[in-house]
Amino acid sequence: MSKVYDWKVNIKDNELEEICSFLEKGELVVFPTETVYGIGADAFNGQACKKIFEAKGRPSDNPLIAHVSDLDMLKECVKNINEVEEKLIDAFMPGPFTLILEKKTSIPKEVTAGLDTVAIRMPDNKIANMIIKKFGKPIAAPSANKSGKPSGTKIEDIKDELDSSVSAFIDGGDTEIGLESTVVRVIDNVPVILRPGAVTKEDILKLIGTVKVDNHVLNNVEDNEKVLSPGMKHKHYSPKTKCVLLDVKSVEEKKQISELLKDKKIIVLGLEKNKEYYEKSNFEIIGKDLDEFSKNIFTKLRKIDEEEYDLILIESVDLKGIGLAIMNRIIRTCGYDIINNKNQVRMYIENKRK
Ligand code: TXA
Ligand code: MG
Repeated sequence: MSKVYDWKVNIKDNELEEICSFLEKGELVVFPTETVYGIGADAFNGQACKKIFEAKGRPSDNPLIAHVSDLDMLKECVKNINEVEEKLIDAFMPGPFTLILEKKTSIPKEVTAGLDTVAIRMPDNKIANMIIKKFGKPIAAPSANKSGKPSGTKIEDIKDELDSSVSAFIDGGDTEIGLESTVVRVIDNVPVILRPGAVTKEDILKLIGTVKVDNHVLNNVEDNEKVLSPGMKHKHYSPKTKCVLLDVKSVEEKKQISELLKDKKIIVLGLEKNKEYYEKSNFEIIGKDLDEFSKNIFTKLRKIDEEEYDLILIESVDLKGIGLAIMNRIIRTCGYDIINNKNQVRMYIENKRK
């Protein structure tokens, strides 16, 4: 059994020393960031980083993010920062933003899965920042969850699945944003979003005047297709229960779907404003707006997965702002299975579609 450190109210100095000594010994520590919890190891210690892959059951070709506390530490990890990259760093670090940069030899191959680039992030979270600063070296950390499962946004959700692999859990309460950081790589001076997050496409466009969203953010990767980020290929955010994306705009059709779902072991997840259209069926409010939706979606998916439904229907949201990040995650949760009318819902009920 690993230790849980309760730092919801304040950081305890003697415990901070202990955490750093675990990291120094090459052990793993779960810590909060403003996006999701991370499972961290000394980013300069390849053997320690290897343990992260074992703990998560993570495919070995999927690289980790190196978390830094300041610009000096960032510069210890990367070389050749161009003007566009510098602007992005100035504007969005610290924050829910990860930049892919050319790596220095200080970063071992275990962090980058053999690539010559490294993902760098400076979290905007007091606890994360304090640990990295005190440790004095970058901390490599993917989201704290078993590979393929929804990312951890509270300790209770992930304690059991990671308990045997880590030395400590630091409980900083529920994470603020709930979805992982925006991942960007600058190609030919254009920022390309590889994974959308709380730093939005609109934010980047306003700053740089140009931005692209990689085609795989909303579309499946075909076999043998090349990707700019290995994470795009892998199964993600998946509960045990089958999930389908419900992309229906008409209120009338929502009501008809609710009628079809009456007395069925099927639940619809969506925004608070849509609850009234699903009076006849099970409905779970994920949030009153997109920010609340992003904060709650992973923990709600974990909870509803325990409730033994036959099917989970997740309502689509607007692609504006953080909506793009929400859609990227829920499309993957649903394995790219999208339906847009009541007849397709009926096919699921009648088991003609699985
Ligand atoms: O908010 C976050 O980013 C959280 C917290 C803990 O910081 N971390 C996180 O890490 O979500 P992870 O490992 O679950 O996702 C990292 C993503 C993966 O999709 C990975 O493929 C991509 O970043 N990535 C890492 N290094 C890369 C590289 N050199 N080139 C392209 N993509 C990279
Ligand atoms: Mg992850």
